[in-house]
Amino acid sequence: MSPPSTLAVHRRRFVRAGAGLSLLVAAPSLVRAETLVPTPAQTEGPFYPVAMPADSDSDLVTVRGAPAAARGVVTYVSGRVRDTSGRLLAGAQVQIWQCDVHGIYDHPGEGRERARRDAGFQGFGQTTTGADGSWRFRTIRPVAYAGRTPHIHFRIVAADGRRLTTQMYVAGETGNERDGVLRAIRDERQRQNVIVSLSPSGGPEPGALSGTFEIVLA
Ligand SMILES: [Fe+2]
Repeated sequence: MSPPSTLAVHRRRFVRAGAGLSLLVAAPSLVRAETLVPTPAQTEGPFYPVAMPADSDSDLVTVRGAPAAARGVVTYVSGRVRDTSGRLLAGAQVQIWQCDVHGIYDHPGEGRERARRDAGFQGFGQTTTGADGSWRFRTIRPVAYAGRTPHIHFRIVAADGRRLTTQMYVAGETGNERDGVLRAIRDERQRQNVIVSLSPSGGPEPGALSGTFEIVLA
């Protein structure tokens, strides 16, 4: 048998390369099928605490030493932190901050209004995700303030240093349609993923609500 011509060898190599290429082309669609939509980053806004409150645990409804619990509708917000491949991220720090029932943040930027705030509301809280990526806060249902629909601010710092600052909204709020920050999320799926349904928690606290906010880090 005579040795293959140079042309035939080149041709065979080309066919092999072509087969490899078609696999590469097919791969992105397989990856996409398992890829979660990342939670959109949103502005931190001006009210991230300047100094952490002495009590900064995951229960914002009770403040150590305060004579009364926070006013407002007790709301349990929980979820998991995952990456886009669905991996559960343990040991991630999750922080939230929000205004009190009067629409006032515990922040010097509120000026004289700050003196009117509900001292029974912690305003800021933090926790760390468990082995299953889960986190949970006891807080109040967020309320609207001038120019903003009800929202809770979130900052997540994963154990590997990945970070996300975003905001969570409440399904059914009429102000959602007019909120400039929420509307700025152009991707429909990303926008829907930050809007959370709150419903009766079914727990022992009468009137308490609960909702699930799933967080996906890019
Ligand atoms: Fe805000």
